Amino acid sequence: MSTFSEKDFSVSDYLRSRPSYPDKFYEVVDEYHEGPRDRLIDVGCGPGIATFQLADKLKSFKQIIGTDISSTMIERAKSHKEENPEKYGAVTFKVSYADDFGFLKNPDEKCDMVTAVQCVHWLDFESFQKSVAAVLRKGGTFIIWGYADPIFPAYPKLDALLNNFTYGPDHLGPYWEPGRQILRNLLRNLHLKGEFFTDFKEACFDIDYIRTNQTDPLLIEGTVTLSQFQDYLKTWSAFHSWRKIHQQERDITEDFVDNVKLLYPQLKKQSKLQVVWKSFYKLCRKL
Ligand SMILES: C[S@@+](CC[C@H](N)C(=O)[O-])C[C@H]1O[C@@H](n2cnc3c(N)ncnc32)[C@H](O)[C@@H]1O
Repeated sequence: MSTFSEKDFSVSDYLRSRPSYPDKFYEVVDEYHEGPRDRLIDVGCGPGIATFQLADKLKSFKQIIGTDISSTMIERAKSHKEENPEKYGAVTFKVSYADDFGFLKNPDEKCDMVTAVQCVHWLDFESFQKSVAAVLRKGGTFIIWGYADPIFPAYPKLDALLNNFTYGPDHLGPYWEPGRQILRNLLRNLHLKGEFFTDFKEACFDIDYIRTNQTDPLLIEGTVTLSQFQDYLKTWSAFHSWRKIHQQERDITEDFVDNVKLLYPQLKKQSKLQVVWKSFYKLCRKL
């Protein structure tokens, strides 16, 4: 069970602080996809950040279903849909494991696209691929994408500080679930199987790449104040786990902000900074 399922996890903070995905990437997806657009399933959808973007930005699908094991996340996604009932008439949400498509009433029902955004590192990749292959029609698209470990391109001295905050043994290092190493490595060690899929298109955008070249289609970036970035750090599952154990202690993210100011005294809590995340995608078609 992931931290995101716990009742005291703040979905509102998550929505406020997490990045969404660039229009250019949805153009890549639109171009890649071939054939009918009847049903799209977005697994591990959380509060629907990608699900609503898929509805807004892709050429339209008749039905878009977001699934997640966290009922808290799904409730938030549903309430956003209810605020925009006409715009999101095609979108529904269900509490479900990512590899369980049993909510489709007829086991022969297939779908045209499956997306798994920023969640595959939580899953058993072998059985997940098998389940996706079983539910996709021939030629249907399977897409995985996500991000990790942000950097501030204009403030290179913050790289080591952030790395230590994220993975240092006296910081959040011990509080990540095992899947974090998979994400940190941008899923390079997870391989899509040729027995199920074909037409592989994969890319990873690492720190060196994004520092020198901000033209990748999945450039996940934003401009945030230092204070908003601190809020983003608090949406990390590792911070949530750290907080449970250190309830009486000073918030570890305050130390991070203090250290930022030591390295760059000109930065204040309201200073605006460009932040860019390492990112990756994997696209393929069902054989
Ligand atoms: C980091 S969030 C990503 C949410 C959303 N896709 C996005 O792009 O922001 C990861 C989500 O995966 C969900 N999750 C973790 N393990 C899962 C599983 N086995 N089956 C379904 N969802 C899962 C969590 O509840 C959480 O909502």
